[in-house]
Amino acid sequence: MVGSTELAARAAAWFAGWSALRSYQTRSGPGFFAAMRLDSTGDWEYFSCAPTPATFATVAGEVTESAHRALCVLGPDVHHYVKLAHKFGLGMVSNSEHLMECAMETQDNQDPFLGDPELSLVVKTLGGKRSASACDARFSVAIVKGQTVLASGSVGIYGEYAIFDGLQTHADHRRSGFGMLIMKTLTAKALAYPVATGLMLASTGGQRLYTKLGWRSLSPITVLVPKERLTEMAKL
Ligand SMILES: CC(C)(COP(=O)(O)OP(=O)(O)OC[C@H]1O[C@@H](n2cnc3c(N)ncnc32)[C@H](O)[C@@H]1OP(=O)(O)O)[C@@H](O)C(=O)NCCC(=O)NCCS
Repeated sequence: MVGSTELAARAAAWFAGWSALRSYQTRSGPGFFAAMRLDSTGDWEYFSCAPTPATFATVAGEVTESAHRALCVLGPDVHHYVKLAHKFGLGMVSNSEHLMECAMETQDNQDPFLGDPELSLVVKTLGGKRSASACDARFSVAIVKGQTVLASGSVGIYGEYAIFDGLQTHADHRRSGFGMLIMKTLTAKALAYPVATGLMLASTGGQRLYTKLGWRSLSPITVLVPKERLTEMAKL
């Protein structure tokens, strides 16, 4: 884990790059950033880094205005955040995701070799020259066999940061090395720019892969939602 100042700086860079990579509408206030998740809940998703109880109370006040909002708290003190959550009308959904980073200079800048003539690597540049984005460049990468996308992911260049996102391997083709190949291809794309640090919000499955590639955890993420939403989720 890292100090709170470094974590706050990394979290701010990750949020700016990630929301630009996904073209989300964003807003910010004292102690939080928020992204409009039209692709999932249709409401604001809030991020707050090691909030004080006062900041937590203010952000929780906004989050509980709608059952479809969520608050993702970055910081090591999961028990403390869960206690605060209960006090302010929220409950925990998960604490398994982590914000991770890697020193880009330790990574390979060569495109990996696919080694199977039936597979092709499709690299796309996202957003045209005229599309306004906080990212300097955005790329998506996919490994394709015939009509099937075996694995895909994307990366955004945000100043000295490379923000990785959306890595996924088709459920029938996992543990065959495709996730690793996508990561290596995205990394080689990013290293064409003067990036120093890779950042990513990683699921449990992803964390194992990224650790193998030299990434490390900066912090767990405690995901909190309004209690009424937790009750709805329990019924599903
Ligand atoms: C996470 C995910 C992308 C991994 O893709 P993949 O193509 O199966 O990964 P790879 O085959 O390249 O795995 C490389 C190594 O990472 C580790 N790894 C990957 N998935 C793992 C898992 N579920 N459990 C344990 N280790 C895992 C292993 O060390 C693996 O090497 P090994 O198979 O020789 O042991 C895939 O499971 C997935 O799409 N999950 C759902 C979406 C998701 O969580 N995406 C990550 C978002 S951050």
